[in-house]
Amino acid sequence: MSHIIEQMQAYYCQRAPIYDISMGYDDPRTVARLNAVIQRIRDLLQNKRVLEIACGPCFWTQRVSETVESVLATDYSDATLDQARRKNLDWGKIALQRADAYDLSQVKGDFDAALAVDWFAHVPRSRFHEFLQGLHGRLQAGSIVVLCDQLPGAESLSGLFDIEGNHIQMRELPDGSSSRVIKHFLSEQELKRLFARYSDQVEIARYPECRRIVVSYTVG
Ligand SMILES: C[S@@+](CC[C@H](N)C(=O)[O-])C[C@H]1O[C@@H](n2cnc3c(N)ncnc32)[C@H](O)[C@@H]1O
Repeated sequence: MSHIIEQMQAYYCQRAPIYDISMGYDDPRTVARLNAVIQRIRDLLQNKRVLEIACGPCFWTQRVSETVESVLATDYSDATLDQARRKNLDWGKIALQRADAYDLSQVKGDFDAALAVDWFAHVPRSRFHEFLQGLHGRLQAGSIVVLCDQLPGAESLSGLFDIEGNHIQMRELPDGSSSRVIKHFLSEQELKRLFARYSDQVEIARYPECRRIVVSYTVG
């Protein structure tokens, strides 16, 4: 399992310079379509001290920074953090730190909220609870956790699964290299079952028009 985790790290490191463009985040029409999702996440995180996991080049960090008290945006890849550093972000509220989502022991600060966009879908099933427990361990009691991922589109489902049932996609980069990545499209039922052990207040909001799902819950 560690092999595919390393492959995903290398893949995102290589994709860093084109990440925002490849997601359409430079296109105002795409951003407009995401507006309801952005608003939902902003509302959930209003005035919070947020720990963000796998922030990438900080597209979402920038959007939430308008309503949060502060955000520590973390990512495994220095290359993606470098892309973020070049942006004109609200550096009074945003700080960046390199951190592995599976080992948050070096992350400094007190947080009453967590955010991860397009991250949980990449966590192997065998590490769901390790990741979540590590994250919850960095949060104050009563914190809100917000996870935003994608709903499947026409070409999202590869039909490939690894031995532990992780859905696998093949991704190509402009240099012709191809990588295997884990990409789950978990059903609402699965998500509710997964988070029920941490919270009896799990909310799921779906945005089919822009293929997004936002899961939020409060940890005890
Ligand atoms: C799909 S991108 C999402 C980026 C950003 N959240 C966004 O939505 O724009 C996944 C991110 O996970 C990061 N990543 C991969 N493995 C990681 C790990 N073990 N710990 C933390 N971040 C990781 C990658 O560097 C990449 O930036």
